[in-house]
Amino acid sequence: MAGQLRHMLRDDDINHAEQKQILELGMKFRENRFYRQPFAGPQAVAVLFDKPSTRTRSSFSIGVAELGGYPLVIDKSGSQLGRGEPVADTARVLTSMAYSIVWRTFGQDRVEEMAKYATCPVVNALTDQFHPCQVLADLLTIAQHRGGVDALPGKTIAYLGDSANNMANSYLLSGATAGMNVRIAGPFGYLPDPAIVADAERIAAENGGSILVTTDPREAVADADCIFTDTWVSMGEEAEYAIRSKPFWDYQVNDELMALAKPDALFQHCLPAYRGKEVTASVIDGPQSVVWDEAENRLHAQKALLTWLIGQQRGDESLLA
Ligand code: CP
Ligand code: NVA
Repeated sequence: MAGQLRHMLRDDDINHAEQKQILELGMKFRENRFYRQPFAGPQAVAVLFDKPSTRTRSSFSIGVAELGGYPLVIDKSGSQLGRGEPVADTARVLTSMAYSIVWRTFGQDRVEEMAKYATCPVVNALTDQFHPCQVLADLLTIAQHRGGVDALPGKTIAYLGDSANNMANSYLLSGATAGMNVRIAGPFGYLPDPAIVADAERIAAENGGSILVTTDPREAVADADCIFTDTWVSMGEEAEYAIRSKPFWDYQVNDELMALAKPDALFQHCLPAYRGKEVTASVIDGPQSVVWDEAENRLHAQKALLTWLIGQQRGDESLLA
């Protein structure tokens, strides 16, 4: 197999078969933390943060170390990028030393610019538009609880709340790629970009899934296999806190809405969670919640993703399975 430089900037950078391969690899890493060590040397992976993080920071730092590599974690406040050094120059420098670049930042255009100049895989660790690593972990969590990766196609997932944010967009694209029925419910003014919905509809049609965007939370959760929500105030939106506290109450995931889903429906939240806002304590701390598995699966899913990306770049098929 010829080597090919691949990036993970948005969820639809991989197709159905590739997503399945990565998730199967994630299941292997779940069973054996040291299943593959593609960065043994250690080879460095640069992990950059322009926004705060607990899970992404720990899962990439620990994950790269477990892959045999050295995680070079750089915060905005401690980098020249944070003082306005061009993304292209940063890419040229990092790519001369690191074997992969992982970046949490604001606009999607920034990770795209990084990828344009990098000669190693670039991974989106959350932008304002997408959070693909999170949704890989969320799909892995469904696979963990529902008998494996083959159980994903045909399942119905419902996301409630701020439906114009990065999580909603990533559920649309990743769920469609998996061949799932994706339902997104939020209030007018907080619904997904029609261009992303159109992409998701095209991908869902290719993979036997479907897309529903609605303002009706009940329609979204009816008989669903997994319910998701996220904060109503994403990072960078703190100034809108007062405005954003109002429109989402009908979309709070509570016992009443959970009761409309399948009796064994799972509940997931990317975290951090705000109990009493987007989800009640009774749900997130209740028996259907798998949020701690979900958080742990960030580690396994991202190790699988990095291993797969490096396998692609090196043309090393032994790293793809
Ligand atoms: N879910 C998630 O990305 O969490 P952090 O912001 O803590 O990384
Ligand atoms: N939508 C949230 C996700 C946090 C992991 C945010 O962007 O802040």
